[in-house]
Amino acid sequence: MHQRPNKPQLRVQPTTLWEYPSQHYGPGQQGDQKYVGATPSYVIWNMIERYTKPGELVVDPFCGSGTTLDVATDTGRKGRGFDLSPYRADIEKADARKLPLETGSVDLVFMDPPYGDHIDYSDDPSCIGKLSAYDPKYFQAMHRAISEAARILKPGGHFGLYVCDYFEKKVGFAPVGFQLFMSVAEKLKVVDIVSVVRHNKSLELGNHRKAAEEGNFFLRGFNYLFIAQKPDNRPVPKPEPKPDLRARDRHGRLVKR
Ligand SMILES: C[S@@+](CC[C@H](N)C(=O)[O-])C[C@H]1O[C@@H](n2cnc3c(N)ncnc32)[C@H](O)[C@@H]1O
Repeated sequence: MHQRPNKPQLRVQPTTLWEYPSQHYGPGQQGDQKYVGATPSYVIWNMIERYTKPGELVVDPFCGSGTTLDVATDTGRKGRGFDLSPYRADIEKADARKLPLETGSVDLVFMDPPYGDHIDYSDDPSCIGKLSAYDPKYFQAMHRAISEAARILKPGGHFGLYVCDYFEKKVGFAPVGFQLFMSVAEKLKVVDIVSVVRHNKSLELGNHRKAAEEGNFFLRGFNYLFIAQKPDNRPVPKPEPKPDLRARDRHGRLVKR
């Protein structure tokens, strides 16, 4: 039987393999543990701690139950969360492909989008969770959301995309991560790729594990976290030329002292 390790102290993860055995840190919760598809809050906490300073702006275009907003508040950052189907009052209604934000105005964009059509998030026909991970339309929609994130980021601002591959027994494997990574790499400069260990309860269910062994397929044990940065192509200001203090005569010729 797979054993969960004890909940360790929350700290910045030093390697590219991230693991924390709880959806929430501290005594309370971030976001809503009843929300299907909520993001483990330590992933967002690590992104915020590494890539922003207190007072800076963090945006989540697929905000779900508001985990990013709660972590932003805990860490003294400003947070804005958008979703087609706002789950609570501080989440603003908007499509991740067209956000009501100025170009170059955000320090960190974090997103955990739908990975296909296996979760019913809302009745909104624009929900990307209505598109199958086997349908090119899903990747076109996500390409637009990633492009929009790149637009709103400040030059030098950071981006985190938390995503998982998809598998359905009858259809097979859908490499969602690698395909979305192509969009990230097209729009932004890749900083690193992290593998985040999943602790979903379904991974521990005996019948799921037996089905995976007997059917010779794999349960999804990790998520990707793609970390990228908006290039800062602004020209570096030239230093002011030093004033020439050497003595000259009235014709502008240097005078020896
Ligand atoms: C995996 S959940 C996000 C979970 C969230 N990070 C949390 O911790 O609760 C994905 C969210 O994307 C939203 N969504 C789907 N399509 C969207 C779109 N086009 N624009 C904005 N939000 C969208 C869904 O309503 C859902 O809340």
